[in-house]
Amino acid sequence: MSNAKVYPVPDDIRKNAHITKETYQEMYQRSLDDPEGFWGEQAEKFLDWFSKWDKVYHSDLKNGDIRFFEGGKMNVAHNCLDRHLEKRGDQTAIIWEGDDPNNSEHITYKDLHERVCRLANAMKARGVKKGDRVCIYLPMIPEAAVAMLACARIGAIHSIVFGGFSPDALKDRIQNADCETVITADEGVRGGRNVALKSNADKALESCPDVKNVFVVKRTGGDIDWKDGRDIWYHEAVADVSADCPAEQMDSEDPLFILYTSGSTGKPKGVQHCSAGYLLGAAMTHKYVFDYQEGEVYWCTADVGWVTGHSYIVYGPLANGATTLMFEGVPTYPDASRCWDVVDKHNVSIFYTAPTALRALMGQGDEYVTKTSRKSLRILGTVGEPINPEAWEWYYKVVGDSRCPIVDTWWQTETGSILIAPLPGATDLKPGSATLPFFGVEPALVDAEGKELEGACDGNLVIKRAWPSMMRTVYGDHKRFMETYLSAYPGMYFTGDGARRDEDGYYWITGRVDDVINVSGHRMGTAEVESALVLHDSVAEAAVVGYPHDIKGQGIYAYVTLMAGVEPTDELKKELVKLVSNEIGPIAKPDVIQWAPGLPKTRSGKIMRRILRKVAANELDSLGDTSTLADPTVVDNLIEDRETK
Ligand code: WTA
Repeated sequence: MSNAKVYPVPDDIRKNAHITKETYQEMYQRSLDDPEGFWGEQAEKFLDWFSKWDKVYHSDLKNGDIRFFEGGKMNVAHNCLDRHLEKRGDQTAIIWEGDDPNNSEHITYKDLHERVCRLANAMKARGVKKGDRVCIYLPMIPEAAVAMLACARIGAIHSIVFGGFSPDALKDRIQNADCETVITADEGVRGGRNVALKSNADKALESCPDVKNVFVVKRTGGDIDWKDGRDIWYHEAVADVSADCPAEQMDSEDPLFILYTSGSTGKPKGVQHCSAGYLLGAAMTHKYVFDYQEGEVYWCTADVGWVTGHSYIVYGPLANGATTLMFEGVPTYPDASRCWDVVDKHNVSIFYTAPTALRALMGQGDEYVTKTSRKSLRILGTVGEPINPEAWEWYYKVVGDSRCPIVDTWWQTETGSILIAPLPGATDLKPGSATLPFFGVEPALVDAEGKELEGACDGNLVIKRAWPSMMRTVYGDHKRFMETYLSAYPGMYFTGDGARRDEDGYYWITGRVDDVINVSGHRMGTAEVESALVLHDSVAEAAVVGYPHDIKGQGIYAYVTLMAGVEPTDELKKELVKLVSNEIGPIAKPDVIQWAPGLPKTRSGKIMRRILRKVAANELDSLGDTSTLADPTVVDNLIEDRETK
């Protein structure tokens, strides 16, 4: 894209930036040439250690054996809290902004430390110990951060399940990780509506007999069921224990958390992250990619149920002693000015969100933005999906008044922290490009055979060596880790994304090349949605693909073949949508269901999704080769039905 517009680094940003063009080049080169020296220095600079490591770096991608700072002892909660107390005990750690605009709270590092110690002791009192898995199913309230850090403090491994997931999805995740403890709330509040978390958890727990403790935060005081002996009010449990809880000495490689994410096949897998390397990645990228400066208020709009919330609401900012804003609500409540009102109310300097939110706000008109001040804003960020240049320009001009660099950050649940992104003081921007790799990240583009492509080209995005915050395994299933990420191109980590590299070496992520779709920045396995659809008695077969959607980026398009003799009705479509919502959660609801008497299959019976994607996108001129189909007329029928649908 030689004709892409370039936005050079603004002078005022460069002057005070942590990293400039020159230091980026130098540090990047050093990070590749001398990983031992580079990562050793960064680990000293960013983290506090109880005792030092034996070896800095071990990257064996062929065997999936990745270790950083092995033998070193540290604790993530100590790094996010205790070490800050002397210098910034009274500084705000978390600004909590409630769903109701009249509801907010400032929590200092000292307060947060005390809350974490208390919950840690309350968990210990109920038998939770190092290595145990704790499921967190909470709305965006401070207790979510407290719960994460309390687990880290005692060495328990947290597994957060997004509050929008259904009881069934919650059950699967609790069972897969063998959690005996769950932390939830009576209800959540979003956009003025209450969300029934405890009753969802109760349903899930009907099939989880091993769960012994359910801590329940009282958020709304709404009616809930109660199981004596198992359920404990959070506020009572933390009142009864001491506020002193020493942080457990953890090895660098001890697991910190598991987070389930969708892949192209089967059930979601538990991506497992370690302690020290993960925290180093989150802290370094938080400081450098957002150019975080002492005293600034930083706001990432993600939910803690996703990796973005883990790394950029909680761990990265708190490791750096920052003030991080946590928002309970949605960008359109009470109206589409909400984000900018919050920016003004709390003097936010750095704002990090998803393209889907920007597209939705853009559609509401500029007035909602321009009537607010936003003068505190300095840096803007995006994550989760490719940002279309139109949304980028709107973000830059209307939200940022053409003053604030936009960092388009590419990364994944598996990568733990940002891998490809501009640095505000160092990188000239091109709308739509995630630009250049972060320190220590060695990306490459390969063809289908794994041959590395040179120069400006298009290909599959791989990473050629391990970085500190890389996932270490799939929880309980190392074989699946190898198969999913490290087998396609031996010796390299395969991202599942396609990308283009331009003549300046800038990366342009083009989207998933596997059967994963990205709906409003949320990853969804097409196989998961298909499995939900075929649970219905009337459904013989289902094939799900993504299609371009103005707001969501991608929408969910389901082709459904009914059992012989079943009448295709609108009523049935509604039932199917509801079924998917119950099985996975409302985010997985199909946008379109098309009845498909037949699906295009190869002679060996494999569904040709390439063709289904084209039909869904209405790109009928470029269907490609259909001659290998067992029955080519199937495609004509699908096209005909699409038009009459
Ligand atoms: C996509 C979210 C383009 C990509 C942190 C990736 C992006 C998947 C970007 C991971 C970006 C994320 N530009 N695409 N800046 N960021 N993606 O695990 O397809 O929820 O593989 O992690 O989102 O989604 P996940």
